[in-house]
Amino acid sequence: MYLTREEEKMYQGEYGPAVEKSMEILVALGDIYEAEKLVEITSAQISGVSYKTIGDAGLEFLEDLAQTAQVQVPSTLNPAGVDLDHWQELGFSEEFTKRQLRIVAAYQKMGIATTCTCTPYLASNLPTLGSHIAWSESSAVCFANSVIGARTNREGGPGALSAAICGRTPLYGYHFESGRKANLVVEVKVRLKGADYGALGYLVGQEVGGGVPYFQMVNKPDPNNLKSLGAALASSGAVALYHVQDSTPEYHLALRGLEVGDVELITVEEADIRVVREKLSSTSKKPDLICLGCPHSSIDEVGHVAELLKGKTLENDLWVCTSILVKAAADRMGYTKVIEDAGGKIVADTCMVVAPIEELDYKVIGVDSAKAANYVPSMCGLEVVYDDVENLLDLK
Ligand code: F3S
Repeated sequence: MYLTREEEKMYQGEYGPAVEKSMEILVALGDIYEAEKLVEITSAQISGVSYKTIGDAGLEFLEDLAQTAQVQVPSTLNPAGVDLDHWQELGFSEEFTKRQLRIVAAYQKMGIATTCTCTPYLASNLPTLGSHIAWSESSAVCFANSVIGARTNREGGPGALSAAICGRTPLYGYHFESGRKANLVVEVKVRLKGADYGALGYLVGQEVGGGVPYFQMVNKPDPNNLKSLGAALASSGAVALYHVQDSTPEYHLALRGLEVGDVELITVEEADIRVVREKLSSTSKKPDLICLGCPHSSIDEVGHVAELLKGKTLENDLWVCTSILVKAAADRMGYTKVIEDAGGKIVADTCMVVAPIEELDYKVIGVDSAKAANYVPSMCGLEVVYDDVENLLDLK
């Protein structure tokens, strides 16, 4: 791979061991993906934060790296394993939390903002159209590429961290316009609402794998719908980019220049969505905890939950997962009080998948996210019910 003179110096260790190690990782990745060179990035988003997923080996690696590493571009963190401020009242153990706090402190020492969210674009890390970035949370990658029109591959945690430290990432794949063409047209013949978007994403992700779907929809999705759709596409498949006709910024380029045969066509009917929705529930038992906010809730999603709960009492426990920044806005707007008065909680910094939720006393988790429905059984060993938020909340 071609390196500039400056990059050669970085690679040779002239800027210290952290930059040298990170350049080695980037060059190795570039070789694997046949990148000809590196490209400078404007932002990084780093996964590999929860102690549940990275363990002691990850903690030690990060503490060691933090002795010498500093990020070169604005960088944010994925969710951690606990709410960093309210872990005790949620029932998380001190032993787990102590290690979790050390991980977050190591990242902070490297200059990374500890916003701890999978929706960084709602919380200070918002790239611009066409900018090159290195993000590693799969749902955020999908949103950044598809809804914002920024350019990133699906980086792993170490790749994104190395890119943040060097301010560069290998130039291949979704960084090129040619890598952003659709290969599957999905004609959606049903008007979608609520959890239908996740079901659609789950269905199409399985079909397209690592390809690029192009949706033609009856209705116009809002950014929250697109957030759910992308997360599901990225979890059942390996989708990093999708287009929605008349909605996403690059849809008009997605099919341009393609030949007949380059693109397949499928249609999605009401019955297909219904079947997937049923399949995403692993049980018909009543959930004892409802977890919303996968990906992390926007302020209007939190407001919608508060509206549903106003003056009511919840029969099941409720977590509304979000970032600390959205939580601060919810506090100010009175949503937190309404949700807490009904018996629910706004949970910042973490989520139902990366928290050690299996150590708490819950058996069945209710979710309105296809990504969460996909991962809760395998990552937490709990049963899951998939439905619209209005149907999940058990109110009196
Ligand atoms: Fe975010 Fe956790 Fe879902 S990291 S996308 S809320 S699984």
